Amino acid sequence: MINTRQDHDYWDPARKGFITNYPNFPHWKRIEATQLEDTRPFNIYLHTPFCIQRCSYCYYKTINLRGTEKYERMDRYVNALCREIELASQRYGLKRRPVLSIYFGGGTPSLLYEEQIERVGRALYDNFDMSQNPEFTMEAEPVTITKSKADTMLSLKVNRMSMGVQSFDDEIIQASHRLDSEKKALKAIDLVLQTGVPLNIDLMSGLAGDTTEKWQHSVQRTIETGVESVTVYKTELYSNTEYYRGVRNQTLELPSDEDEMASMRYSLRELINADYVPWSFFSYTKRGGHQHVHSPSIFRGDDCAAFGVSAFGRYGDWLYQNTNDEEKYIQMAEAGELPAQRGYPLSSLDSMIRDVVLCMKLVRFDLRWFQQKHGFKLESICATTLQQLQADGFIEMEENEIRLTEKGMVYGDYAGKSLARALMAFYN
Ligand SMILES: C[S@@+](CC[C@H](N)C(=O)[O-])C[C@H]1O[C@@H](n2cnc3c(N)ncnc32)[C@H](O)[C@@H]1O
Ligand code: SF4
Repeated sequence: MINTRQDHDYWDPARKGFITNYPNFPHWKRIEATQLEDTRPFNIYLHTPFCIQRCSYCYYKTINLRGTEKYERMDRYVNALCREIELASQRYGLKRRPVLSIYFGGGTPSLLYEEQIERVGRALYDNFDMSQNPEFTMEAEPVTITKSKADTMLSLKVNRMSMGVQSFDDEIIQASHRLDSEKKALKAIDLVLQTGVPLNIDLMSGLAGDTTEKWQHSVQRTIETGVESVTVYKTELYSNTEYYRGVRNQTLELPSDEDEMASMRYSLRELINADYVPWSFFSYTKRGGHQHVHSPSIFRGDDCAAFGVSAFGRYGDWLYQNTNDEEKYIQMAEAGELPAQRGYPLSSLDSMIRDVVLCMKLVRFDLRWFQQKHGFKLESICATTLQQLQADGFIEMEENEIRLTEKGMVYGDYAGKSLARALMAFYN
């Protein structure tokens, strides 16, 4: 085959030699027909949109539910969710593929009643191959989690819970319009820890009213709880939030970028000193144990079957999202239709860029994995950008790996985005 310009230059022009296939048959090997079935493990994301509060910073499309309508409304939704699970499993032959991880997020899954959580769990066990003991995470919120809900989750083999705490400062929590408090959050954490299930806590840096002292208090409280895993999100300003309206009307001031970055630097150092190992630039696990499966697998581009209103998923090169209209979602599921509403087919270049920008979040980027997957050496294509990032202290290069430095981690996606820009420039 013609591989390089140099090869071509040495060829005498000729018309003979019609190409029928590539690679040529001598490179093919013997297989069984069963090897053609898709049996790759895949991930599952489940979404419930309901919450008991509307937090002022939150950009998720959530439905604030309290009072008597709560049970019926959630029940109709849960029925639709179970129906969608059944439909998708049949349509896409998902039962042939083992489940690698399940993430039940929201909204607030812990707002569901025990019997509803159980029904979703049963739908999973009835419709998927759960034989490889998948990682099974459920999100919980301090005010809505109870012992009996936690026990129900455990009976379904939930093996990680993730709790939104955001801050251990009561003034910040109240100003965010959350219904919990430091005391309630600590009680909820204790409740989950008593069950023995590994717990993740979400903190948010850059919330309104945060100060150096308050942030230090939140980080130290987090460490004192001894939770297995900690996630530190930088507060992002989205146009559908009360925060955004407040900042635009100048009735709300958020900490400056410099202050927020100093907070990140503080939490990074303190968490590392307390034996928490970062597996991404915003998430840590105690002594590097209980490695997360779901997000890294999604970042690496593995399939994710997504269920629920507005849920995002991926099958092969197709990214898709379900309708974000609750009523439409329910009606489609009831009518036996899958509720996917929009999608995007990734090109080879999209895939490369996506892998770079998402996998650079994982602190260590495996260059040989990238080469095997895409057939190119990232270190050759992006040599100048890598040199610059290294010179500026954002990354360190090892033989087969790019590593984010502390500075690289504090700057979040900067290194990943720089490499993505270099790839785009190279190919366009
Ligand atoms: C869907 S919530 C699940 C937790 C649960 N609903 C709760 O609030 O306790 C997931 C996490 O997203 C994070 N989050 C929400 N809005 C955000 C924003 N504007 N910027 C960064 N992170 C945000 C919060 O840390 C939250 O805990
Ligand atoms: S942070 Fe959690 S509880 Fe608050 S609105 Fe968002 S999803 Fe709901």
